[in-house]
Amino acid sequence: MEANYVSKTAKSMQLHRRAKQVLPAGVSYFIRYFKPYPFYVDWAKGSKIRDVDGNVYTDYWMGHYTHILGHSPSRIVKAVKEQIEHGTHYGVCHELEIALAEQVVKMVPSAEMVRFSNSGTEAAMYATRLARSYTGKNKIVKFEGGWHGGYDALHLAVKPPFELLESNGITDGALRDTIVAPFNNLQETKKRINDKEIAAVIVEPVIGAGGCIPAEKEFLKGLRELCHEKDAVLIFDEIITGFRLAPGGGQQYYGVIPDITILGKILGGGFPIGGVTGRRDIMERMDPLLYERPKFSFQGGTFTANPATLTAGLEMLRNLEDGRVINNLNRHGRRVYRGLEAVFERKKVDAVVNCVGSLFQVHFTREKVRDVNAAYRADKEKLAKYHSALMDNSVFFLPAKNGAISSAHSEEDLEKLILETERFVGESGY
Ligand SMILES: Cc1ncc(COP(=O)(O)O)c(C=O)c1O
Repeated sequence: MEANYVSKTAKSMQLHRRAKQVLPAGVSYFIRYFKPYPFYVDWAKGSKIRDVDGNVYTDYWMGHYTHILGHSPSRIVKAVKEQIEHGTHYGVCHELEIALAEQVVKMVPSAEMVRFSNSGTEAAMYATRLARSYTGKNKIVKFEGGWHGGYDALHLAVKPPFELLESNGITDGALRDTIVAPFNNLQETKKRINDKEIAAVIVEPVIGAGGCIPAEKEFLKGLRELCHEKDAVLIFDEIITGFRLAPGGGQQYYGVIPDITILGKILGGGFPIGGVTGRRDIMERMDPLLYERPKFSFQGGTFTANPATLTAGLEMLRNLEDGRVINNLNRHGRRVYRGLEAVFERKKVDAVVNCVGSLFQVHFTREKVRDVNAAYRADKEKLAKYHSALMDNSVFFLPAKNGAISSAHSEEDLEKLILETERFVGESGY
């Protein structure tokens, strides 16, 4: 497979050689690296991306699950072009920030006020600070396998072994106030918290990076009650699930309403964004006119609410608001789920398909994958081979990462994925 890849990607190989001189590991984000070297893209539209050697792939990575309407949707591109003729970044107030905040409030059940940032990581950082400021407490509970970006206090226990630091350079001080608890296990979560005073619990309604693992409804409901009991803030990280599982995100899908929600990805319509939203009395802590230092909780940044991103985001949310696109995507998700399950069953392959709405992941294992430990017990080598075989046949998953379906994926795209899966299973002699 590797020889085939190398023979098709000579220009990418050259670019990667060049990249390694100036970018650590030759990439801007290590999850984008794969062996022997990643291909370099020069065009993306709809469900397709094309590399510099002219190979076209059906993309299931979709810009880190951002492009729910496919790559470069014409309406968004047109709107952004018009906007940047008026100004790329004003750096002062403008109507679009009100309009997008109003749109978020309209769609997301927990949203009463909004602040925009430039990335999900920033949103997680500001939400943590806000929860601490609101409750006057420090400790944050996060879950094993949960990924909330690179902010120090939350950047731990992302993948097993959980005791190992995820990155060098994070101080003990930064981690001292973070309690790690097992996902989908309320009893053990309560035990780990014990009698400690907690400011917040942060949870992804569906663990993304850890393997597309849905929270069980009772678990989320239990966390909701626990936060009430402990006078703590429940934070949903909806950076992946927001505007994807339902127009109102995972909270609408599960019917469990958090106090604070962090958003990103789809919210920016294909441009960089993050967002913190939630209850008015909590969000108002970010208002220094109401809460003077030291009670005020800071949030801000040079490129916050830049008009290009906000134009794209507004166009995006307006497309998703009535739920038709999302219902259709969820239908496609079920089609892929059933198709893949049928292949594995027919061919007697030990594999489970985790699928929630339009997000899915194959795990080569027999056991149900309801936490990240089970995901890591699955055969990762087989998963890498599977994704590499798909890539060889023009279907792109970032190796070992979930797939995301967009409204630009056609029935034929989905059929091809199922067909190529069947071929892989057949050829690898399972
Ligand atoms: C659930 C979740 N939270 C937070 C983040 C961090 O967002 P960003 O990469 O925009 O900083 C991500 C990114 O993948 C994510 O998936």
